[in-house]
Amino acid sequence: MTDCLKCLVCGREFDFRPNDIFCPGCQQPGLFLNSISGQIKINRRAGTPLEKFASFLPLEKVRPELSLGEGETPLLSLVNLDPEGRLLAKLESTNPTLSFKDRGSVLVVQKALELGWPAVGTVSTGNMASSTAAYAARAGLDCLLLVKKGTSAAALLSSSVFNPRIVEVAGDYGQLFRESYELGKSLGIYFANSVDPIRLEGYKLTAFEICLQLGKAPDFVYVPVSSGGHFVGLWKGFLEMNRAGFIQKMPVMVGVQAAACAPIAQAFTDQRERVDKIQPSETIAHSISNADPPAGNLVLKLAGANNGRLTSVTDEDMLRAQKELAMKEGLFVQPESASTLAAYLKLPTGSEGTSVLIMTGQGLKAAHQPGLESIDYQAGDIPDLKNYLRSVYRQK
Ligand SMILES: Cc1ncc(COP(=O)(O)O)c(C=O)c1O
Ligand SMILES: [Zn+2]
Repeated sequence: MTDCLKCLVCGREFDFRPNDIFCPGCQQPGLFLNSISGQIKINRRAGTPLEKFASFLPLEKVRPELSLGEGETPLLSLVNLDPEGRLLAKLESTNPTLSFKDRGSVLVVQKALELGWPAVGTVSTGNMASSTAAYAARAGLDCLLLVKKGTSAAALLSSSVFNPRIVEVAGDYGQLFRESYELGKSLGIYFANSVDPIRLEGYKLTAFEICLQLGKAPDFVYVPVSSGGHFVGLWKGFLEMNRAGFIQKMPVMVGVQAAACAPIAQAFTDQRERVDKIQPSETIAHSISNADPPAGNLVLKLAGANNGRLTSVTDEDMLRAQKELAMKEGLFVQPESASTLAAYLKLPTGSEGTSVLIMTGQGLKAAHQPGLESIDYQAGDIPDLKNYLRSVYRQK
């Protein structure tokens, strides 16, 4: 049986095949729209989220043994930032390789095995690379990672440990993204990049969990946006929860981009219907700096149709929000993830209901790390230590 994809921008339907996921009409990524098979039920006693939500997934059979324990992440109330309890954080940073990507990767390897593909690949410099490599190792699949020229050793380490084949490629990243699908077709490698429809099926489970944890839909969901895959997956999750009668309304989704590279937010502000490729400036938020987002037009359309918003925040805003989350709530997340708090502080929706910030990645994974000179600490020998501490504590 071939799965059918639907393009939500122009309405076309087409068959799903690995490496062939874009609408032949308008080039936006297709979505599995008929993934609700048979009876819609949540198996609340099941061990893994995959089993719990199996009837919502486009797989012949879920294979929980390929899980690394992804999902079931905490939904924390940020009580120090909002004592009223209306501000919450969904901690995707607690997934096995420390980002939301694991929810997609666990499904990618299952689809690859189901369809008999021996290898998976991805174009990424960071979180997706390590996540794909980890799940490929678990599933016994070959893995090819295409990384941008100049990727740091630190960024590569979290992938190389899983023993994928890594190739550093010079040139335009957008072009490499498109080229990967042609390579995949000719070499028999399933390139499951950021907007792959099966990945998005994993991201939708985050929305399911939020609804079940809250007992209703949140009023607002803040999510960092780069390619747009995560935003679309979450939106689809809320839509399916709504259609299945678990929630009564859709939340307002707020997509957040880095000011230095915000093609979708710019198109939204200018009230355009299409996202144009931009010339980005430098930003510390590498994971959300896609100048030519493959799901840009789709995000624009979904956000617009549901009263959603797309906004951008500066690097300074993100770093300030990252500190706030750490110092006030004990959470260490990537600046990209902290962009959600920065956006919330800019357009506070607290008085209008419950807001959920999606914490997409763990702080230690960030490409941007402060130098030692900017870390607040003291150094000395034991007598120095005693004098120092006496002076500090006497003052109090
Ligand atoms: C930490 C983090 N947040 C957000 C994103 C953006 O996700 P998407 O490309 O699906 O829009 C990424 C993508 O790599 C990421 O690594
Ligand atoms: Zn289309």
